[in-house]
Amino acid sequence: MGVPFSIISFYLLSLLLLANNLSAHPLCIDSSYPLTLKSPLKFCHYDGSSCCNSKQDMQLQKQFQSMNVSDSACASIVKSILCARCDQFSAELFRVNSVPRSVPVLCNSTLSSTSPQSSQAAGNFCSKVWDTCMNVSVLNSPFSPSLQRQAGSSVNSNLTKITEMWQSKTDFCNALGEASEDGSLCFGGEPVSLNNTAEPPSSPSGLCLEKIGNGSYLSMVPHPDGSNRVFFSNQQGKIWLAKLPKEGSGGVIEFDESRPFLDLSDIVHFDAEFGLMSIAIHPRFAENGRFFASFNCDKTEWHGCEGRCACNSDVDCDPSMLPTDNGAQPCQYQSVIAEFSVGGTNTKPLMATSANPAEVRRIFTMGLPFTSHHGGQIIFGPDGHLYYMMGDGGGSGDPYNFAQNKRSLLGKIMRFDVNTFPSASEISTEGLWGNYTIPKDNPYINDNQSQPEIWASGLRNPWRCSFDAERPSYFLCTDVGQDMTEEVNIITKGGNYGWRVYEGPYPFTPLTSPGGNTSLNSINPIFPVMGYNHSAVSSKQGSASITGGYFYRSSTDPCMSGRYLYADLYGGAMWEGTEFPEESGNFTSSLLSFSCAADSPIKCSSVPGSSLPALGYIFSFGEDQNKDVYVLSSSGVYRVVRSSRCKYTCSKENTADVSVLSPAPSPSPSRSSASQLSKHLCMSLVILLSSLVMVWLDI
Ligand SMILES: *[C@@H]1O[C@H](CO)[C@@H](O)[C@H](O)[C@H]1NC(C)=O
Ligand SMILES: *[C@@H]1O[C@H](CO)[C@@H](O)[C@H](O)[C@H]1NC(C)=O
Ligand SMILES: *[C@@H]1O[C@H](CO)[C@@H](O)[C@H](O)[C@H]1NC(C)=O
Ligand SMILES: *[C@@H]1O[C@H](CO)[C@@H](O)[C@H](O)[C@H]1NC(C)=O
Ligand SMILES: *[C@@H]1O[C@H](CO)[C@@H](O)[C@H](O)[C@H]1NC(C)=O
Ligand SMILES: *[C@@H]1O[C@H](CO)[C@@H](O)[C@H](O)[C@H]1NC(C)=O
Ligand SMILES: *[C@@H]1O[C@H](CO)[C@@H](O)[C@H](O)[C@H]1NC(C)=O
Ligand SMILES: *[C@@H]1O[C@H](CO)[C@@H](O)[C@H](O)[C@H]1NC(C)=O
Ligand SMILES: *[C@@H]1O[C@H](CO)[C@@H](O)[C@H](O)[C@H]1NC(C)=O
Ligand SMILES: *[C@@H]1O[C@H](CO)[C@@H](O)[C@H](O)[C@H]1NC(C)=O
Ligand SMILES: *[C@@H]1O[C@H](CO)[C@@H](O)[C@H](O)[C@H]1NC(C)=O
Repeated sequence: MGVPFSIISFYLLSLLLLANNLSAHPLCIDSSYPLTLKSPLKFCHYDGSSCCNSKQDMQLQKQFQSMNVSDSACASIVKSILCARCDQFSAELFRVNSVPRSVPVLCNSTLSSTSPQSSQAAGNFCSKVWDTCMNVSVLNSPFSPSLQRQAGSSVNSNLTKITEMWQSKTDFCNALGEASEDGSLCFGGEPVSLNNTAEPPSSPSGLCLEKIGNGSYLSMVPHPDGSNRVFFSNQQGKIWLAKLPKEGSGGVIEFDESRPFLDLSDIVHFDAEFGLMSIAIHPRFAENGRFFASFNCDKTEWHGCEGRCACNSDVDCDPSMLPTDNGAQPCQYQSVIAEFSVGGTNTKPLMATSANPAEVRRIFTMGLPFTSHHGGQIIFGPDGHLYYMMGDGGGSGDPYNFAQNKRSLLGKIMRFDVNTFPSASEISTEGLWGNYTIPKDNPYINDNQSQPEIWASGLRNPWRCSFDAERPSYFLCTDVGQDMTEEVNIITKGGNYGWRVYEGPYPFTPLTSPGGNTSLNSINPIFPVMGYNHSAVSSKQGSASITGGYFYRSSTDPCMSGRYLYADLYGGAMWEGTEFPEESGNFTSSLLSFSCAADSPIKCSSVPGSSLPALGYIFSFGEDQNKDVYVLSSSGVYRVVRSSRCKYTCSKENTADVSVLSPAPSPSPSRSSASQLSKHLCMSLVILLSSLVMVWLDI
């Protein structure tokens, strides 16, 4: 027995394709989010949202002057090309996901109607650059082929004219231009503007679910052998390797409950917000069998549960002042990421059916100030680094202001390199919290006032994040709100998502603030792209909590294609978020009607007095190898299936499939239209049977 090579290579190939895929919500070359300018840039004239501040604008001016372009028509073109770095879509224009470029991709054809870009001027800009600048001397020319090729610059770098550097316009434009036909952006001489003249797509009529398991899990991770196997982990501390049934087979999840893949329940501390929070497998699991678990432990119960306290002198927090409810010691509970390895040495990782329970390496340990808001999800990003989601550590209103304090890891998203290990002395001199190193391009690596692990800040309790399988720069995290509103955020490098200065887009006033305040105008918050007010799901304050899902990328329900799915924890509401124009970062969310297929392998019970399936608490979502999406709730595992199985109408669904079932009029969903509050904020107003939510609340 052995896993066919083709399956492994298919997996590696799809990883490569993924990594090279382009993407484009507003995002700068360094993966940071554009700034909102208070006044237009003096040199580049960009206004509003831009990737340059006034200092970078000055640098571009200096660079431009040093080029000494005599011809004024060419000078103006060269200037526009230099200034494209300031465009809010510069990450896309300079293709940061592939080989970084010295000039943006120059539009090279008359735009097709599928292009997301609307500017007529874009046209054949590359041809215009050639025609206008061909004989003009440009010192330190960015058009030099050696810069484009990056490596080995055998080309004479003293050449100044593009006709000296390139054989012909065709050569030049084949290298620097790109026909904008695949929906990606190109530079046409002016700031990018997206085509929003098309009609926004209409919402799906409903989400159809089938129940395929009774268990309650927090994480589901596909096995990388390309099969239908997945890892499930529950909050108590057990991980199973299970087989998913094919859709329509009538089957259920198959696994032997008495034989977990790994059982950590002896070391995991399980309570309301404590437990085994997440699992992750290394991107090269097939070769190295590395397996990671993120969990909580109690240091009075397990000697391995000993880390530095998050409440410490660096952040003006005195551990002896921490509340000792239930007689707890300061930082008694800890958040841990531990590494394990599959089976014995002679087992091929892909064949392993169990992991070695002995911890291989401790990646991270940190003592927690309170008993809530410590996220805990771990995900390997498309860049191969490990992202770790951490809440503000609890206490109403983040009393110590941890989420805004970059000397604290609380209220942050962290990014670790777990492929390069530090020496014991590096761990102590660099003040690391475990066995990882800091990726060189983490945003605060050179800032001695910040913890270098931080990727993004200002989060309250990021509860479920995912990378879009088709667009790696769309890293979405939902953040649980306190009194008023729930958030869906696009996470960017160095982004500050506002908590505790803001709750969603609304200024927040803390009741107590022993940790000091951050003033409203001292930060540049990134507001949520979607979310909902607590009043939308319940009239009772505090009884809403968001659970983030996935961009739906499966072909199973074509009407959900490309939409972001998320839910309220209390199980009464799910939403889909649609981006329009595509690539714009402008999302509108709508409440989704959902029901359970009549032919569901396990019959779904209903909420008393309603036809709504009783999902219980929606803890999390999962995505399998085929990009099918699963709801992981307290009552079981539900898969999103063809909408016709619930008699919802989806005109994109294969008609042959639909005809098998008797057609029925589509139920009118209790959906309301969302309102656009600002460019990056839209909250859908939802009127729901709040009495039903109350029933679950009292569980
Ligand atoms: C810039 O161009 C002008 C006129 O074309 C020329 O006189 C001058 O020497 C150039 N400066 C440099 C630094 O090359
Ligand atoms: C914008 O999109 C619409 C619909 O796809 C298309 O008809 C129109 O030509 C496009 N406009 C531009 C300027 O590309
Ligand atoms: C550039 O130089 C070539 C050859 O000397 C000439 O044919 C062409 O017209 C010139 N182009 C411009 C835009 O001046
Ligand atoms: C470029 O110019 C400098 C100074 O004029 C000279 O020293 C150098 O050799 C030149 N390089 C090439 C590759 O011609
Ligand atoms: C780019 O434009 C040049 C010149 O107009 C043309 O010869 C070439 O085929 C174009 N390349 C692409 C990829 O469209
Ligand atoms: C954002 O999306 C909404 C709904 O799809 C649309 O009406 C609006 O024009 C979009 N806004 C922008 C700035 O494109
Ligand atoms: C799930 O639970 C239901 C109701 O208790 C039971 O009838 C069914 O056999 C269970 N199915 C599986 C696969 O555990
Ligand atoms: C690094 O890993 C080793 C092996 O698990 C462990 O003994 C050590 O404590 C870890 N270091 C830190 C700082 O966690
Ligand atoms: C931090 O960096 C600043 C500026 O680089 C420097 O002035 C300061 O002394 C540094 N502080 C510490 C504690 O190293
Ligand atoms: C922080 O802000 C709150 C509310 O505005 C205020 O009551 C409190 O005194 C402030 N604390 C400090 C340390 O400035
Ligand atoms: C959410 O609540 C805020 C504050 O009460 C309000 O301004 C906003 O309009 C609400 N949004 C929706 C969509 O109801």
